[in-house]
Amino acid sequence: MIFIDTCFGKKSDVMPIWMMRQAGRYLAEYKATRARAGDFLSLCKDYKLASEVTLQPVDILDFDAAIIFSDILVVPLELGLPLRFEAGEGPVFDEIISSEIDVEKLNINAASKLIYVYDAIKLTREKLASNKALIGFCGAPWTLATYMIEGKGSKTYAKSKRMIYENPALAHKLLAKITEVLKEYCENQIKAGANAIQIFDSWANALEPSAYLEFAWKYIQDLASYLKTKYPHIAIIAFPKGVGGFIECLDAKIDVLGVDWSTPLQVAAKTPYVLQGNLEPCRLYSKKAIKEGVEIIKELTKDKAHIFNLGHGILPDIPVENVRYLIDCVRNA
Ligand code: CP3
Repeated sequence: MIFIDTCFGKKSDVMPIWMMRQAGRYLAEYKATRARAGDFLSLCKDYKLASEVTLQPVDILDFDAAIIFSDILVVPLELGLPLRFEAGEGPVFDEIISSEIDVEKLNINAASKLIYVYDAIKLTREKLASNKALIGFCGAPWTLATYMIEGKGSKTYAKSKRMIYENPALAHKLLAKITEVLKEYCENQIKAGANAIQIFDSWANALEPSAYLEFAWKYIQDLASYLKTKYPHIAIIAFPKGVGGFIECLDAKIDVLGVDWSTPLQVAAKTPYVLQGNLEPCRLYSKKAIKEGVEIIKELTKDKAHIFNLGHGILPDIPVENVRYLIDCVRNA
């Protein structure tokens, strides 16, 4: 698998490519399957349909890896917090975490309830060509905790940050509990057939560097060490979004560092990891901008193993034709 070889530092003539949110609304086929499922969470919970949408971008666009279709928020859901997705509003938890009792009530056996994810991985691995990698994933403890404390996306993360400064012991208790569940969750994904695990820390940039290291990265280190020690052949990718200012401080037992579009690759190159990224997703609106962006990334990574990706998820109104053009620029131009 060219994707896995690259994760472990082997440079190939052509960069492997996949895209965050590659199974999603820019594809008519995704929208059709989602309509059959009824709603987003039903799609996540139906392993056959989840597998179907996982395979779509690989079948249609020939990416080098598939990422299992699910959502980072199925973990808080199975920890015991009812989740709904509201059109225009995004994810909402009506019950939130604000006290010791709330943390104690969380279901430590959440990983055993996520069978629909493992079944989707098993089925997808059976159907996927042997030269294509299957990526499993989870949200990082900090990013999951923010949703559980805020109840929804936030501009300021004030409730979460109030907890880490006002009651750090409670925050650590919550983060440690999430981390224990994620170890088992990722391990089960590996046992089901995932070849790599990506840890999404989407709200990394909400914290000042010292707080990020103490309340977020520390738990990624713990999770990555656990997985790497038991499964050295599985590639571990961390994607801490918006940490360009202190990216050199991030050490962990990971193989690949996902670089977001706001962090220069030259800066990320000072870390010891293989890099993944980081085309600005809005470049996909313009073929000229795509070509230019790909050329810049190729020039900056010409001597190294590198995984091509966007610097965050693809937006729903990107024309599929432009994605095809991007892949062609990466492979042929
Ligand atoms: O193709 C893939 O990348 C795999 C599937 C995937 C989804 N979500 C599907 C999804 C993955 C890896 C995620 C991760 C995820 N989910 C993150 C981390 C990555 C990031 O973008 O920073 C986060 C923060 C979430 C939480 C989440 N899920 C939000 C904020 C939303 C609503 C925003 C939106 O785009 O509408 C979701 C819903 C969601 N997850 C969709 C998809 C395809 C859109 C739902 C739909 O089909 O209507």
